[in-house]
Amino acid sequence: MIYAGILAGGIGSRMGIQDMPKQFLMLGNKPIIIHTIEKFLVVPDIDQVYVAVHPNWLVYFNDLVSKHLPGHESKIKAVDGGGDRNDSILNIIADIKAAGPVSDQAILITHDAVRPFVSYRMIQDNIKVMADYDATDTVVMANDTIVESQDGKSISSIPNRAHMFQGQTPQTFRINQFDSLFASLSQDEREILTDACKVFVLKGKSVGLVKGEYSNLKITTVTDLKIAEAMLGEI
Ligand code: CTP
Repeated sequence: MIYAGILAGGIGSRMGIQDMPKQFLMLGNKPIIIHTIEKFLVVPDIDQVYVAVHPNWLVYFNDLVSKHLPGHESKIKAVDGGGDRNDSILNIIADIKAAGPVSDQAILITHDAVRPFVSYRMIQDNIKVMADYDATDTVVMANDTIVESQDGKSISSIPNRAHMFQGQTPQTFRINQFDSLFASLSQDEREILTDACKVFVLKGKSVGLVKGEYSNLKITTVTDLKIAEAMLGEI
């Protein structure tokens, strides 16, 4: 089985809009999250699309699905989002497991709800690369020089830019392996987790790279939303 896990449990505090989390804001003629889910619904290999939604917005989300994606309700399953991004992933996994035994080959393609320009090719490449690795990460080469500073005041190092990439999503892994690796993390390791791939890196597992695109923008601020509006129709 191949599952998609759309992460929409955040509140979008950096967007600075009080009314609603950013994934529900309109982009063109439909909410950002609907654009994102549509990208996964058209991939035939994907059996079920899970969406982790902030608990206060579950009813609102289900109404959006009925309005914008009629006929797809049975393929989309909303679950409660968690306290952080990884908790949202764990909630999706718990719901998948509650439905019955999960094969060791079953994979979960996780994706930020606020990256509506993910492409069919990126999703397919995430599935393909899983044949050779424990997990996959979608990345773009760093355009800017990356500067490391341990204290935020002065430079500690400037890594070779040719070896620097910026992480995007999708990130993909086998559900059972993620679950057991996550359970084996120490409290210190859990505190430095930024994303799902880090669980694999911390445990010495292989993470293959999928080529992302600069257009696979994460909408974080009002400026990003303006850029996304300008990109509509061009992608
Ligand atoms: N996310 C999630 N569960 C959380 C926190 C974040 O599923 N508890 C999701 C967000 O909804 C988003 C994605 O992870 O689609 C990327 O996170 P980010 O852009 O940081 O979103 P927010 O946490 O909503 O934004 P902010 O940090 O500005 O509050």
